[in-house]
Amino acid sequence: MRILFVASEALPYTKTGGLADVIEALPKALVKLGHEVAVFLPRYRGVKANTVVMPSMTIPQGGRLRFPAITNGSLLHGVRYFFLDDPFYFDREGIYGDRKHEYPDNAERFTEFSRAAIEMTKHIWPPDIIHCHDWQTAMVPVLLHSSYADDPLVKDLPVVFTVHNMGYHGIFPKEALERAGIPPAVFHPGGVEFFGSVNFLKGGLVYSDYLTTVSRKYAQEIQTSEFGFGLEGVVRSRADRLVGILNGVDYSSWCPEKDALLPMKYSARNLAGKRVCKQALFEEFLLLHDNPNRPVLGIVSRFADQKGFDLIAEIAHELLQEDILLAVLGSGDRRYEELFRALAGDFPGRVGVKIAYDNRIAHLVEAGSDMFLMPSRYEPCGLNQIYSLRYGTVPIVRATGGLDDTIEEFNLQHGTGTGFKFTEYTGAAFLEAIRQALHHYSDDGVWKRIQLNGMAKDFSWNTSAAEYEKLYEAARAARTQKAVPSSN
Ligand code: ADP
Ligand code: GLC
Repeated sequence: MRILFVASEALPYTKTGGLADVIEALPKALVKLGHEVAVFLPRYRGVKANTVVMPSMTIPQGGRLRFPAITNGSLLHGVRYFFLDDPFYFDREGIYGDRKHEYPDNAERFTEFSRAAIEMTKHIWPPDIIHCHDWQTAMVPVLLHSSYADDPLVKDLPVVFTVHNMGYHGIFPKEALERAGIPPAVFHPGGVEFFGSVNFLKGGLVYSDYLTTVSRKYAQEIQTSEFGFGLEGVVRSRADRLVGILNGVDYSSWCPEKDALLPMKYSARNLAGKRVCKQALFEEFLLLHDNPNRPVLGIVSRFADQKGFDLIAEIAHELLQEDILLAVLGSGDRRYEELFRALAGDFPGRVGVKIAYDNRIAHLVEAGSDMFLMPSRYEPCGLNQIYSLRYGTVPIVRATGGLDDTIEEFNLQHGTGTGFKFTEYTGAAFLEAIRQALHHYSDDGVWKRIQLNGMAKDFSWNTSAAEYEKLYEAARAARTQKAVPSSN
């Protein structure tokens, strides 16, 4: 099969979150299964292109025409990369916005990107299926269904749409339709309209052939008002076309045996290197290192409401009465940056904070910590807790979405389980889970059992890539059946 991925970020080019990890690893895994895969991305500032493959394409927007180019990147691990090349829209300081605001022309930027993806399939790289990700690419199925409905080259092209996060809709005022060049015919309550505004994510949910999200549990959750952000009814109406497929992990990047970013590598057979990493973590975060056995709790995260840091704020002072250290790496919402800075000020040597986006330090926190905290309010999949498992760093997570699907509660009697979970979204429940973990940490034998249970888990992409493959086949088959005229 020829599969075209359309996404707003992907490693090794651009990353703000887990989406970029997925758009690097899943195409690679599909190539291994024997498919031809290309990835289409915007060329953001700093991304180098190789050659121009299409110097000018025509994109209508708001009564004007725009003429972006298509360039290409290298062939990496058998995956081809193409870029939408439009410096006016994409050669900017940020990807979705600057430090303070989202860019006001995001509707135009990502509609042009989606239209260009369709034009690319016509002129450069015709696929059997398009796989779109999140609201930034939702105009692909919307435009295929409207502007391109009569185009013989693309009208039967099936689209699979993956929701990585229901919390981001891409909502714009009605006037954005005209400015972005979206046909007004799709602006109705059964289309992209959402309480008088244009909702990109809704368009993706309504007009795609199949929908997926990134864990089984989250596929259930987004059908409820607690997790659907107002679109739960739309998701429910498409439940027969919705599948939860758990993200995998690219163990060539996230495995302590091969991790070149660590001061010393280690494995389940010999954990000596983990102690060296812990020492380096002490130094990096200026933490007390008089007692190498004192437990370190690590955090690596985007600072966003989703991630549950209000619970940390609630329990921090009580938690720090325990003999523990906290190492926090993250950036994003100012409120949480200030929260963690203040904690570091109140507890020098006990709370170490780096307000930064830094891949090397992210690897060091995964390796050097004893426990990893993810108290998310909601979590579609979550990758860090899965990385933690492989690094022998025991996750303490809220039992939601992918966190619940990937972490198994430790059971002392049977010696099974990989971490600690809490369900109620309260500081008390979170604290109780941490105390459980600390209790078991004090017994070396028990703790090693939990670490080894986690390190033995395999969340590589093989299984999930095969599930996507099946889904692509189903999406193609559904289109073929539709194209056959019925006999009665
Ligand atoms: P989300 O996509 O919601 O942010 P995930 O757990 O799926 O959450 O993925 C987050 C990814 O981003 C992981 O690869 C993680 O290591 C990385 N990451 C998050 N914050 C930082 C940071 N401050 N520095 C480096 N990497 C980070
Ligand atoms: C989103 C989600 C995260 C998920 C990632 C990749 O950013 O917040 O849970 O792991 O996408 O699918």
